[in-house]
Amino acid sequence: MFDSGFGGLTVARALIDLLPAEDLVYIGDTGRYPYGSKPLHEVRSHALELGHSLVDDFGVKAIVVACNTATAAAIDDLRSELAVPVIDVVRPGASALVRASRSGQVGVIGTVGTISSGAYPTAVAEVASSLGRDVDLTSAACPGFVEFVERGQTTGDEVTVLAERLLAPVRAAGVDTLLLGCTHYPFLARTIGDVMGPEVVLVSSADETAFAARERLGDLDLLRDDRARGTRRFLSSGDVDSFRELGSMLLGPELDATARWPLST
Ligand code: DGL
Repeated sequence: MFDSGFGGLTVARALIDLLPAEDLVYIGDTGRYPYGSKPLHEVRSHALELGHSLVDDFGVKAIVVACNTATAAAIDDLRSELAVPVIDVVRPGASALVRASRSGQVGVIGTVGTISSGAYPTAVAEVASSLGRDVDLTSAACPGFVEFVERGQTTGDEVTVLAERLLAPVRAAGVDTLLLGCTHYPFLARTIGDVMGPEVVLVSSADETAFAARERLGDLDLLRDDRARGTRRFLSSGDVDSFRELGSMLLGPELDATARWPLST
């Protein structure tokens, strides 16, 4: 799996908990983060490089794109270029969002790249039509959230002030369910939940993606015997010591070593 940095660790946490027998290779592209403010063609090229590396250098049997921005930018290219199943975060999140909402008034928040790509309106409309549901989606980009997480600042007044401003459109729309459409955002869930209020259900694409991965691997008969104990490797294209330090705080004790992922450029 890969992400621009630490956000995909929310998906890694869910995958480790749900599928402890599987070996995991995680690449955090911290040397080139953030993805959310970059043009999509640039994110696409990073995502393809990471995907090819996971297959060619690590021999993975499947890839989880643990990043909404990379999914929005590159999912079709990843699926057509790579010879292994590629699981994305957008579709599982959209499906959980529509299923969880009672009123049909739903919201999604994500990076500028993800929100401007239109990936969520398309996915939510497809899910809603397949379930015969009528939903009204409000989207809001949240520039700045990812930067707080990458600095390890997940609560406090500054985060709350920014959240109040950025979440205003989804609050005004009266959503009953809000999808955290960026894998970094579950680290800010307490603040986001506090600002949205207790009646709004928060849906994390991280958990839903882990369920989707289990289903897909099961369908393809690729799940490992659950008596096995998986190994975990964490790599970073940026500073490996700070990746280990903050990563172990965010993910937990499994992240006890980090290697450098070599950049080709
Ligand atoms: N975690 C990534 C996502 O889900 C984006 C982070 C970034 O902007 O680099 O979109």
